[in-house]
Amino acid sequence: MESLRVALGERSYPIHLGADLLGRPELYRPYLGGGSAAIVTNTVVAPLYLQRVRQALAAAGARVTEIIVPDGEQAKGWETLERVFDGLLAARCGRDALIVALGGGVVGDLAGFAAAVYQRGVPFVQVPTTLLAQVDSSVGGKTAINHPRGKNMIGAFHQPRAVISDVATLDTLPERELRAGLAEVIKHALALDAQFVQWLEAHMSKLVSRERGALVHAVRRCCELKAEVVAADERESGVRALLNFGHTFGHAIELGAGYGAWLHGEAIAVGMVMAAELSARLRLLAQGDVARVRQLIMSAGLPVRGPALAPEALIELMAVDKKAAHGKLRFVVLEDIGRAALRGAIDEREVQEAIVAAAQ
Ligand SMILES: NC(=O)c1ccc[n+]([C@@H]2O[C@H](COP(=O)([O-])OP(=O)(O)OC[C@H]3O[C@@H](n4cnc5c(N)ncnc54)[C@H](O)[C@@H]3O)[C@@H](O)[C@H]2O)c1
Ligand SMILES: [Zn+2]
Repeated sequence: MESLRVALGERSYPIHLGADLLGRPELYRPYLGGGSAAIVTNTVVAPLYLQRVRQALAAAGARVTEIIVPDGEQAKGWETLERVFDGLLAARCGRDALIVALGGGVVGDLAGFAAAVYQRGVPFVQVPTTLLAQVDSSVGGKTAINHPRGKNMIGAFHQPRAVISDVATLDTLPERELRAGLAEVIKHALALDAQFVQWLEAHMSKLVSRERGALVHAVRRCCELKAEVVAADERESGVRALLNFGHTFGHAIELGAGYGAWLHGEAIAVGMVMAAELSARLRLLAQGDVARVRQLIMSAGLPVRGPALAPEALIELMAVDKKAAHGKLRFVVLEDIGRAALRGAIDEREVQEAIVAAAQ
């Protein structure tokens, strides 16, 4: 097992990373203040991993409650959140109860938001079981549910007490979900680390075939990068926004296609191509580097072309995104491979051209 740290003063926390971790009682014990724990998971993950987590918590001395929500992005809403609160209240969970989020980014975001607001905030631990959640959503304390008008529109910053990333859980992940997670891996590299881009170019086939050593390396590097960025800018007033590379386009694609039709990672993959094309239009990135971005994304088996939506429609959907302001659009662009930057006051026409170019 390896452990990294997210340095946030008294809210600092460890990320434990390795195989077969989720059944280890000692990883949960430090956070069981009041002796009760509520595992939030979903109908797909529960049959696979719930029992092991339940046993570990019980062995650590906890009184354990289980809250099993439906699967899918649609579960990231008010209705499911209510069910989580119902479960917590029915089990008489107090302010010292520990919430354990067991699952992918949907469960993590939902359970994390529940932990942020339940009785004005209770501690929680992330046990991410998708590649996307291990490299991205479990770290950094962003929690949210969706609104019909926009993704992640209702949420809070609430840091976990620990992240337990068990890469052995990735063995059961559907192929399409693994590839979607690779989109966020690629995002970290393109935005922040040119050397990591090179590593990915050389090792993508190993990641796609789930070689454990390669997976551990990728998860570790993403967590290191994300931990550094979050420590420097927890509330996303600066450098953390760079991790939204591809996301303004991507969120619009998700919304335009209808939640669930496109996986988050798939939409982000296309979003990164569009953002790279935009960077080229703004004369920041060479066309050859745009091709390199496309190639890397394709090597992960991810889409590089969006759904059949008119560019105007896509831009319209961006207006509700929090990254757009005052008619002019704000985007994370690439100044180079591995070096993202935030640019404001971008003309709609340039954005349209980038969308068209990405579709070629
Ligand atoms: N909070 C953040 O900083 C942040 C960052 C990135 C993404 N997100 C959010 O994360 C969500 C996407 O997360 P995701 O891609 O993990 O989706 P997900 O949580 O829906 O998981 C994908 C699918 O895999 C299943 N699954 C999970 N673990 C499994 C396993 N080990 N074996 C087999 N099946 C398993 C799930 O039940 C689901 O069907 C989006 O809502 C996105 O907005 C949040
Ligand atoms: Zn994302």
